[in-house]
Amino acid sequence: MNRRIRSVFGICAAVSMLLSMRAWADGNADKPLVWWNRQPSNSSTGELDMDALTWNDQTCYVGFDADQGAELQGQMIAGYMEANIDTIDRNGDGIIGYVLAIGDIGHNDSIARTRGVRKALGTALAVEGEIDSSPAEINVDGSAVVVQDGEVGGLTVRELASHEMKNASGATWDAATAGSFIDTWTDSFGDQIDVIVSNNDGMGMAMFRAWAQEEGVPTFGYDANSDAVAAIADGYAGTISQHADVQAYLTLRVLRNAMDGVDPDTGIGTADEAGNVLSDTDYYYDESSHSYYALNLAVTSDNYKDFLDSTAVYAPVAHQLDAETSPVRQVWLDLYNASDNFLSSTYQPLLESYDDLLNLEVTYIGGDGQTESNITNRLESPDMYDAYAINMVRTDNAASYTALLQ
Ligand code: BGC
Ligand code: CA
Repeated sequence: MNRRIRSVFGICAAVSMLLSMRAWADGNADKPLVWWNRQPSNSSTGELDMDALTWNDQTCYVGFDADQGAELQGQMIAGYMEANIDTIDRNGDGIIGYVLAIGDIGHNDSIARTRGVRKALGTALAVEGEIDSSPAEINVDGSAVVVQDGEVGGLTVRELASHEMKNASGATWDAATAGSFIDTWTDSFGDQIDVIVSNNDGMGMAMFRAWAQEEGVPTFGYDANSDAVAAIADGYAGTISQHADVQAYLTLRVLRNAMDGVDPDTGIGTADEAGNVLSDTDYYYDESSHSYYALNLAVTSDNYKDFLDSTAVYAPVAHQLDAETSPVRQVWLDLYNASDNFLSSTYQPLLESYDDLLNLEVTYIGGDGQTESNITNRLESPDMYDAYAINMVRTDNAASYTALLQ
């Protein structure tokens, strides 16, 4: 081969190497992607967005079983009412009056919790076979069309009021809004409120601190955030753990497995080399929805001491991975709302512990909870990452993310 030909060959080889590197760099669409906390779905019908859930063969959702948790929350509240039937009716009008803080009328977790509570208390009304989850607004006289009066332990149960706690700029699950609503409600019918129910602890705690604690009115939330669990000692009546310690692990673990090219069940249902493994009382995987669901646990005055630190990693999956077989990788992860109580005080600290154990370098992006573009604007260089973990503002908006990975 003469020099000229050799150098042409050399150029060709270099070009083809560059091309293959580009091909690799361009392959964002093939990189592992996990949707978490907000399942891609139609926000009015709840129908799953299977295009998003099967975006590539390394895509799945990590959340928790919303229906099982909602049922548990409803039963916990009904059980409390029954156990305290002699004292629960504070004004003795024969009605157990409760108010309900709704997180986000288009969020599957919020819808499930509203339904679970109404079902357990007998206040649910069904439309076309599905329990109505719309806010009743003010229903002190029992005339609302979305709920009915129920019955527990021989007393009537009435949803006196319920409202979506969304602030003026559109942020949902808004604790401050719940805090001011309880003020408004108690000003006009405070003596009729016997129980406070909330779709989450962020809003529940705002209502508890603003009014219920001093009045001794039992308040129920959801998430088992550390501050809410600690407040059980001060009269907060109960909450539900959605096993965030399992969810945060799964969120990163599914990406780790995909990047390592190992069996997707490694360190999940099947122990890995380090000994990490979950059991079937912690979670289940549903093939048809490509989703992992953590199971919920009720937290009340009977067991709250076991749940005081919501940011503690789950011991069965707290073993460090070997950096030889699972080398450092880059992950882009967003939280739809940096000021959401549950995500910022429970979920993110857990992720930050697991990222070390799993040898992942995670770039955490905190959204404003209102607009998708506030987050998608910060996915400007997707090539820099080996995998993505996405928490959407609206569950309908999966395509605004996948479009950036095309
Ligand atoms: C949590 C809420 C949180 C929401 C955010 C829910 O699963 O229970 O507390 O605000 O997720 O998407
Ligand atoms: Ca009453």
